[in-house]
Amino acid sequence: MSRDAAMVRLSERLESAHRVTVVTGAGVSAASGVPTFRGAGGLWRNYRAEDLATLAAFDRDPRLVWEWYAWRRELVRAARPNRAHEVLAAWSRRFPRFRLITQNVDGLHERAGTENVIRFHGSLWEVSCRDDCGRVPRRWPDERTFEDLPPRCSGCEGFLRPAVIWFGEPIDPEVLAAATEALDCDVCLAVGTSAVVYPAAGLVTGAGALGAFTAEINPESTPASGAVDAAIAGPAEAVLDELDRLLGPP
Ligand code: OAD
Repeated sequence: MSRDAAMVRLSERLESAHRVTVVTGAGVSAASGVPTFRGAGGLWRNYRAEDLATLAAFDRDPRLVWEWYAWRRELVRAARPNRAHEVLAAWSRRFPRFRLITQNVDGLHERAGTENVIRFHGSLWEVSCRDDCGRVPRRWPDERTFEDLPPRCSGCEGFLRPAVIWFGEPIDPEVLAAATEALDCDVCLAVGTSAVVYPAAGLVTGAGALGAFTAEINPESTPASGAVDAAIAGPAEAVLDELDRLLGPP
């Protein structure tokens, strides 16, 4: 199918859709200047995400892991949502039942005003006690720029950690339940994700298996490209803008 034909097919499906679920990854924030994990610019001080985003890495060197998160917090704090975030925010009000499942921890979807965001991998802006000491909530918002790293838990004097899901950790059961429920939809769209990190990578094909029309937007092909009904090659900020214009006014 040509790109134009895929765009028309997807926009027709969206026009008649009531329940739309979008699964996003780091590529959605690329145009805001937030580096993706894989591909050019994905390394931080020569470390891959897999080297730092684990509890074992944190226990080995909590300061190093916090430095990575502190760097990302400041970078994202200075960033602004881009056109991709804006279109998805508008769609969250346009469709009667819209869910956005994001693997991103940057909070840019929320800052763009998106409703019904399911934060699959947690938030860069929340912290929890490394030891879950029980004297503090399980997780809570903390957007400060920490002077001393790693920050300490006020309950037990142990370390605080970013309240994000690390490799090897389970998805929060309530979040997983909400995401699974969102797969029952008319159109499911994967945007800006390399589709290699599970269980998130299985969401779009899961929606397809339940009968949804599935599509992908990504400048590169991914393991999901061959499995979706329409794979559209291009950057999210341009393709979503084009789709929004094809849809016309709500
Ligand atoms: P990745 O960094 O793996 O993939 C980013 C994807 O975005 C790639 O497929 C790029 O081709 C695509 N891309 C780049 N620029 C784009 C643009 N302007 N528009 C659309 N797509 C673009 O990011 P994720 O798939 O989100 O998890 O990674 C999944 C998880 O791996 C992350 O949530 C994180 C990471 O390690 C944890 O930390 C647990």
